Amino acid sequence: MQHVANLADRRPQPEETAIEVAGLSHVYDGPDGGVPALQDITMSVGSGRFIVVVGPSGCGKTSLLMMLAGLRAQSRGTITCYGRPIPDPDPKRVGVIFQEASLFPWLTAVENVEFPLSLRGDPKDERRRRSEAMLELVGLQGFGARYPHELSGGMKQRVSIARGLIQDPPVLLMDEPFAALDEQTRMTMGHELLRIWNATRKTVVFITHSLTEAVYLADEVLVMSARPGRIIDRIPITLPRPRTYEMMATDVFGKLRDRIWQQIRQVP
Ligand SMILES: Nc1ncnc2c1ncn2[C@@H]1O[C@H](COP(=O)(O)OP(=O)(O)OP(=O)(O)O)[C@@H](O)[C@H]1O
Ligand SMILES: [Mg+2]
Repeated sequence: MQHVANLADRRPQPEETAIEVAGLSHVYDGPDGGVPALQDITMSVGSGRFIVVVGPSGCGKTSLLMMLAGLRAQSRGTITCYGRPIPDPDPKRVGVIFQEASLFPWLTAVENVEFPLSLRGDPKDERRRRSEAMLELVGLQGFGARYPHELSGGMKQRVSIARGLIQDPPVLLMDEPFAALDEQTRMTMGHELLRIWNATRKTVVFITHSLTEAVYLADEVLVMSARPGRIIDRIPITLPRPRTYEMMATDVFGKLRDRIWQQIRQVP
């Protein structure tokens, strides 16, 4: 991927902090004092790190991601991204990929992918070339001219992922991006994501319910408690990189996965 290769020289300094969250809590409005969703989250994400967040359904993972993206305001606490306070949605700094594909139905796959580049005013030939390369990367070569209603759910999600990646922000926030994909595509996409990450050293915060995916991808796994979500464990994933499928069968991998599972299963 030519444009990915071009990014390699933009590697951030490892000691730089990309995201800093301090004392973040959130209560959604509602009867009886509202819904406490997040409680006293403090975390620091070094630039270029791959952080995975796991936790039981409804514990506040999506809420946290929306706040990191500046798309939802927190009740208390502060978030900074490369030293600048969030909220302040800024696609140049932060890109978000959600679980559900949200494509424009009147645009083809390739037009959906290149949409952010057209907003930026990139030349047409250049953006078409990059969009087609990105579609190829997510395994959709030859499908660029299809409209969303002509694609399967998993294919739509891959278009959505391609659109998120093409914006090339230094921070990528991903909310269960592979949940709708079949197991084989999911593994391939995870592997491809690591390849892109390795070439570009983006800072990634990735939410998943899959413990195998968490261990396979992460530098560090943050485990959240049931709602109101708190961070109850931070597990460094010491497996060497590049990760390989064979590592999944190793003892170390199994032990790491088990440690996360032990934490999660204690959640009521
Ligand atoms: N806009 C909202 N208004 C009120 N309550 C909300 C809102 N969004 C989320 N909640 C509540 O906040 C809690 C956390 O929701 P959130 O979607 O962040 O959880 P999650 O960890 O992403 O769950 P899942 O794993 O199922 O995606 C839930 O109890 C949910 O009902
Ligand atoms: Mg969620």
